[in-house]
Amino acid sequence: MIVARGVAELRRARAEIEGESVAFVPTMGFLHAGHLSLVRAAVDRADHVIVSIFVNPLQFGSGEDLARYPRDEESDIEKLRAEGVHTAFLPTVPALYPPGFATRVQVRGPLAERLCGAARPGHFDGVATVVTRLLGLVRPRIAVFGEKDYQQLLIVRRLSEDLSLGVEIVGAPIVREPDGLAMSSRNRYLSESERADALALQRALRSGREAIERGGRSAATAVENMSRVLSEPATVKSDYVELLHEPDLTPFDDDPIRGRVLLAVAAHVGETRLIDNCVVNIPPDGGQ
Ligand code: PAJ
Repeated sequence: MIVARGVAELRRARAEIEGESVAFVPTMGFLHAGHLSLVRAAVDRADHVIVSIFVNPLQFGSGEDLARYPRDEESDIEKLRAEGVHTAFLPTVPALYPPGFATRVQVRGPLAERLCGAARPGHFDGVATVVTRLLGLVRPRIAVFGEKDYQQLLIVRRLSEDLSLGVEIVGAPIVREPDGLAMSSRNRYLSESERADALALQRALRSGREAIERGGRSAATAVENMSRVLSEPATVKSDYVELLHEPDLTPFDDDPIRGRVLLAVAAHVGETRLIDNCVVNIPPDGGQ
């Protein structure tokens, strides 16, 4: 496996596999089984896989956890080697954003306005900018993103189509701990009691899903019930609870819930911000 830390090294590594199919998995490192499931999906779909590890300052707001974001380069590199990755790309900040770098990529409209778009101003501009930069460098045929960050997946799909990047954006299912907590690099911030309280995200989603499956068609009622379940533990402070049309992320307002529905929650558990989601599909004859 090639470990490239600069743009020139990455270009050399990429030139070795010119003409063959390349799948790309961008990450911020501290790799867990969720990340590795994306790497495996990539390995299954292409001749060669390139994985990036880059904690992207552009997507962190002031007061967020950029400085203390967990890192473990050595162990990440070993994990990627074991998966048969062709190149691990670990650029420095000036390698990706050299002096004079002045471009921002912004996806506008309903896709980026709600959920984390509202809760973390500028976050998706940072994500869209780094993903566009990375796709331009790596030039993959496909890129794999996790459904854990569902809004991010939809935004990247949109920008890739809008800018004719020629990349197929593949979504991969959320990988969970045995008790249902969605795997996240940020889970390592949680104390033992916060770790137990964090299951409220999963419980809130389950209560929403079950209410819909029992025939509940009011988004407002579902949100109210989910918010109550989410905020039960004292350490959990809800950030948002929303039900939106999937894939356009428009709200239901007073309309009955129908079609594909994204249930999405975000909360602070102590100091740690966690997100989770699920998609429920209501068949046309399942309405009331
Ligand atoms: P990061 O949080 O490291 O996640 C990298 C990829 O792993 C994303 O596509 C994310 O959705 C996926 N992922 C994380 N946890 C997962 C889980 N439990 N199950 C399945 N997939 C999971 O997302 C980012 O980094 C950054 O925003 C990035 C796209 C790299 C741009 O900087």
